[in-house]
Amino acid sequence: MSTRHGVFVTLEGGEGVGKSTAAQRLAALLREAGREVVATREPGGTPGAEAIRALLLNSDTELTAMAQTLLHFAARADHVARVIRPALARGAVVICDRYADSTMAYQAYGMGVEIAAVEALIGLTGLTPDITFILEVPESVSKSRLKSRGETGDRYERMDAEVMARITQGFRAIAAAEPARCVVLDGTEPVEVVVGRMREVIRERTGR
Ligand SMILES: Nc1ncnc2c1ncn2[C@@H]1O[C@H](COP(=O)(O)OP(=O)(O)OP(=O)(O)O)[C@@H](O)[C@H]1O
Ligand SMILES: [Mg+2]
Repeated sequence: MSTRHGVFVTLEGGEGVGKSTAAQRLAALLREAGREVVATREPGGTPGAEAIRALLLNSDTELTAMAQTLLHFAARADHVARVIRPALARGAVVICDRYADSTMAYQAYGMGVEIAAVEALIGLTGLTPDITFILEVPESVSKSRLKSRGETGDRYERMDAEVMARITQGFRAIAAAEPARCVVLDGTEPVEVVVGRMREVIRERTGR
């Protein structure tokens, strides 16, 4: 592991729970306080990883759940090496919109890849977030938010309710297993409240 001076924060949860909105607001809040913030996302965050993202989110390309898993980790390897580790080494706060917990929740809990396989890949990646915020909203809220965004839906946004329920369960299981890292937040609260709580937790847990 390289020397880390920064703080690695990840935002996780199902579709339309407010991850990207919160990530943007949290980044702005920390920048106002004078911190260097690197706001990034997965899959993606580097040219190579963004190319893999296009493949992963294109619902016209058939891929087995294991193939998807390996592509997510391929993209992650590039992203971690080129963007996240260097930023942490500089002392930046890295805010990443989805990370390895999404692969565990979607591909393992949701789509049936073995949990142990994803755990092994997480071990190979070798970079665990300092703090992970898991946002939760009821399925009806998630649906209506996605609808109001007016998108036809990528591979993941087209998944059925049963799979989505397993994904939500997956995120809960991760949060329960790793309470020192994970904080579950109610995504139906106003965004200012959600982000204010994130700011508090970062201060409490890292002193920054
Ligand atoms: N706390 C909130 N209260 C009400 N609406 C919100 C809140 N957070 C986000 N939204 C709205 O919900 C929609 C989805 O939000 P956002 O894109 O941030 O979710 P996401 O988790 O990033 O979704 P995806 O999984 O598709 O990337 C947007 O229209 C956004 O404005
Ligand atoms: Mg988003």
